[in-house]
Amino acid sequence: MKTVLITGTAGFIGFHLAKVLLDMGHRVVGFDGMSDYYDVDLKKRRHQILLQNANFSCVEGQLEDFDALHDLMMDAKPDVIVHLAAQAGVRYSLENPRAYVNTNLIGTFNVMECARELGVDHLLMASTSSVYGANTQMPYAETHKADLPMTIYAATKKANEAMGHSYAHLHNLPVTMFRFFTVYGPWGRPDMAPHKFTKGILEGHEIDIYNHGDMYRDFTYVEDLVRGIGLLVDVPPVRPETAEDIEEGDSLSPVAPFRVVNIGNSEKVRLLDFIEAIEDAAGVKAKRNYMDMQPGDVPATWADASLLKRLTGYSPNTNIRDGAAKFVAWYRDYYLI
Ligand SMILES: NC(=O)c1ccc[n+]([C@@H]2O[C@H](COP(=O)([O-])OP(=O)(O)OC[C@H]3O[C@@H](n4cnc5c(N)ncnc54)[C@H](O)[C@@H]3O)[C@@H](O)[C@H]2O)c1
Repeated sequence: MKTVLITGTAGFIGFHLAKVLLDMGHRVVGFDGMSDYYDVDLKKRRHQILLQNANFSCVEGQLEDFDALHDLMMDAKPDVIVHLAAQAGVRYSLENPRAYVNTNLIGTFNVMECARELGVDHLLMASTSSVYGANTQMPYAETHKADLPMTIYAATKKANEAMGHSYAHLHNLPVTMFRFFTVYGPWGRPDMAPHKFTKGILEGHEIDIYNHGDMYRDFTYVEDLVRGIGLLVDVPPVRPETAEDIEEGDSLSPVAPFRVVNIGNSEKVRLLDFIEAIEDAAGVKAKRNYMDMQPGDVPATWADASLLKRLTGYSPNTNIRDGAAKFVAWYRDYYLI
C-alpha cells in the first residue's frame, strides 16, 4: 500500500484516478482548490463519493498558497505525488491568461518544491496534447519536437515539462509528465465539447461545431486514461548511464530520471463521428451550428501511445460508441434528463 497525494481530486480526472488507486488498495490524500471555473457543485459531489472510502482524505486549498500545500504534504508524507490540479481549457486561456500563469506555473513550482523536500519515489504531472501545438507530423510522438504552443495554456504546460526536467536533473527526482488527449466520460467537465454536445442534444439546443466539423480528436475514455496513470505510478524513470541506454522511441532524458508519456486512444476520430455516437446514444439528432475555427485551436490531434504500451503493457481501447453510450447514460442520470 502506497500513500499517493493527488492534486485536483475534485476535478474530472483526479476523481477517477483517486477511485482507481483506492480500488488498488492505496491510501489517497487529495488537495483541491474548488476553483469556480465550472460548476463547484459537481466538484463537491465527486469529493463526497471519494470520502465514502476510509482510505481517502482531502484538504481544500490553493496551489499558490505554499504554506497550505506544504503543511498537507509534510503531514501526509506521500510516497508518490500525482499533480493534476491546473487551470485547464484551451479556449478560456484566451480570456483569462493570468489564471494559467498563477495556477500552472506558480502552483506547479510549489508542488515540485514539496516533492523535492520529501524526496518522493515518483512525481507524475499532467501535461497536454496541446503542447504539440502547430506540429503537423502525426501521430504525435513524445520524441517529436514540441516547441510551437498556440495558447498560453499550452505554453504553461510546456513550461511545466521543462520545470519538471530541471528538478529531475538537479535533485534526481523521478518525474513522469503525461500528455493527455481529449478525455471524456462520466463526471466529465461541463466546459468540454462532449459535455456541451450532450447537453445541447438532450435539451434540443443548437450545438456549435467549429471549423465546420473538419476537426479530428484522439478521444480518450477516462477510465482507460486513469488505468494508464495507475500503471505508470509503478514505472518511475531511471536516469540512464549513457545516452546509448535509451531505447529507440523512448522519451527518457539522457541526463535525468525524466520521461514524457502520451496517454491517448491512438485513433484519429472525426468530430462529426463523435457527435453521431452521442446522437445514437441519446436517440436524438443534433441541431448543428457550423462555425469557423477558433483562435488557438488545432484541427487535429492523434496520439502515438506505443511508449505507454511498452512501459506498462497497456493501451487504452474503449471505442467512441461504447464511451459515448456510458457518458450519455451518466449525463441523463446526473442531470435527470
Ligand atoms: N480533460 C482533458 O481532456 C485534459 C486533456 C489534457 C490535459 N489535461 C490536464 O489534466 C489535468 C486534469 O484535468 P481535468 O480535466 O480533470 O480538469 P478539472 O478542471 O476537472 O480538474 C482540475 C482541478 O484542479 C483544481 N484547481 C484549479 N486551480 C487550482 C488551484 N489554483 N489550486 C488548487 N486547485 C486548483 C480545480 O478545482 C479542479 O478540481 C489538468 O492538469 C489538465 O490540464 C486534461
